[in-house]
Amino acid sequence: MHLGRKTLSKYLIENLSGTPDGADLAALLVDVAAAVKAISGMSAKGALGGATGSMETTNVQGETQKKLDVLSNTAFVNTFEMGGLVAGVASEEMDDPFPVRAPHQRGPFLAIFDPLDGSSNIDGNVSVGSIFSILRAPEGREPVMEDYLKPGTEQVAAGYALYGPATLLVITVGKGTHGFTLDREVGNFILTHPDIQIPADTSEFAINTSNERFWEPPVSRYIGECKAGKTGVRERDFNMRWIASMVAEVHRILIRGGIFLYPRDTKDPSKPGRLRLMYEANPMSMVVEQAGGMSSTGRERIMEVVPTQIHQRIAVILGSRHEVARVVQYHEEHDAGKGEPFSSPLFSERGLYRN
Ligand code: F6P
Repeated sequence: MHLGRKTLSKYLIENLSGTPDGADLAALLVDVAAAVKAISGMSAKGALGGATGSMETTNVQGETQKKLDVLSNTAFVNTFEMGGLVAGVASEEMDDPFPVRAPHQRGPFLAIFDPLDGSSNIDGNVSVGSIFSILRAPEGREPVMEDYLKPGTEQVAAGYALYGPATLLVITVGKGTHGFTLDREVGNFILTHPDIQIPADTSEFAINTSNERFWEPPVSRYIGECKAGKTGVRERDFNMRWIASMVAEVHRILIRGGIFLYPRDTKDPSKPGRLRLMYEANPMSMVVEQAGGMSSTGRERIMEVVPTQIHQRIAVILGSRHEVARVVQYHEEHDAGKGEPFSSPLFSERGLYRN
């Protein structure tokens, strides 16, 4: 029984009232929570709800849409349109952003979201999630594309919902990262994971190793060293996980540390990475940085990348900060023409990142 524990609404009132746009942002995040509850209900019904399986349509990425992808997108779009707190929305499932127009009321924010991330996992009953990013809308006019194409540092809030054995909503408004668990009987999100801190060190990595032959040398080097374990330069064994559901992967890292990599590779030269900047990499980077972790492409901080397209792809390396720093260092050394053996003083016997 959660009576007496802090609800999402109470957390938002305590942390946002008195700040500019604070009441509106709090109300918008309550709307996000409402859409998440609807998606949680639909996904929990599984095959009984008739929403498993694929559509005959593909999204702008050319991926076959699952029925739940489309239903989840509708849940977010309807909630945002009715809520009166956003001036426009952009989604993985929609080719272009669209402005909120009469009879709906225009609000002070833009919402960018991936309504159901990892949806190839739905039919296998493996955890999936929703990811969202909130930006400020331009004042007094309809938003245009440039208004969405802001670096992640301009996000005013971000987070994700994880539809696992329990439904969790993890959010940041720039004051740490906090996790709320859905009490299904009562319908409230309860603060169960206040001020999450990602351990700086880890012995667990997550990467799709089937892409190994396409990786760049710094990534091969890092993963090779992890796999060598006690017998290699790291002198300890590493563990590996790959769920193929970014939300579940990031959540595990928030809870017990780890490093997640979907690096740039040569598999499809037209794609500089697999994951999407605006509604995967940026919001997850804000969540991770606010929890004391680090997030990079390997060559630059993800949140400082200036976007050029709404569905832009990017390399993502995030999680426990000492390990991410090590991978960044390997990229720097590689780009400077220095490869093996690894000789940076940062990682030497008594260096900063020595474990
Ligand atoms: O972008 C969607 C996504 O499903 C992520 O959630 C996940 O990390 C990744 O793609 C899985 O990719 P792959 O199918 O290459 O393992």
